[in-house]
Amino acid sequence: MATSLSTHPTPLLLTISILIFSLAFPVTGDDKHVFGKPIPRKTLGLKKEKLSHFRFYWHDIVSGRNPSSVTVVSPPRNSSTGFGVVNMIDNPLTLRPELSSKMVGKAQGLYASAAQQEVGLLMVMNFAFVEGKYNGSAFTVVGRNAVFHAVREMAVIGGSGLFRFARGYVQARTHSFDLESGDATVQYDAYVMHY
Ligand SMILES: *[C@@H]1O[C@H](CO)[C@@H](O)[C@H](O)[C@H]1NC(C)=O
Ligand SMILES: *[C@@H]1O[C@H](CO)[C@@H](O)[C@H](O)[C@H]1NC(C)=O
Repeated sequence: MATSLSTHPTPLLLTISILIFSLAFPVTGDDKHVFGKPIPRKTLGLKKEKLSHFRFYWHDIVSGRNPSSVTVVSPPRNSSTGFGVVNMIDNPLTLRPELSSKMVGKAQGLYASAAQQEVGLLMVMNFAFVEGKYNGSAFTVVGRNAVFHAVREMAVIGGSGLFRFARGYVQARTHSFDLESGDATVQYDAYVMHY
């Protein structure tokens, strides 16, 4: 009798085994949609990673009728370092120190006074380029900018277009600062690893 049970399961046993099977392997219809999986680099056309150096000049124009840098949050307290100030920027990036020289892009983002003992800014900027093959590509700079130091280093944390997977750093050096108008020109050297 036992052998006939295993070769010809009763309807009840069949029902139970189907039930157990369906509990163990639920069919939800999402089986083909894998959330994450490794893919070969060539799928995205990634070849050899390269290192590029860019030099350009960043113009913080706070004066005049069309400032590229505007204070959107005034210092909440009376602080010698302007602690709490936030400026929104759409600053031109030019090839040479003169604002009239060729524009290679814009620095779009903000900076905020984040230090109480010295002037130290938190910079959050997208460098959006318009020059040559880089037109339409951008990378993102985030870092600490103690503006009275000769050289300030900030991180390149990523990008888009030709700067996908970008990483690296920038060095900022003040080229000129007009005490009267508050306008500043800063030389940026960017060292960027990208594909
Ligand atoms: C801000 O600080 C300066 C110098 O410490 C002081 O002379 C001035 O009265 C202060 N202003 C306010 C609004 O607290
Ligand atoms: C950059 O690309 C935009 C959009 O494709 C185009 O309108 C513009 O003329 C280009 N700028 C330069 C400087 O090539």
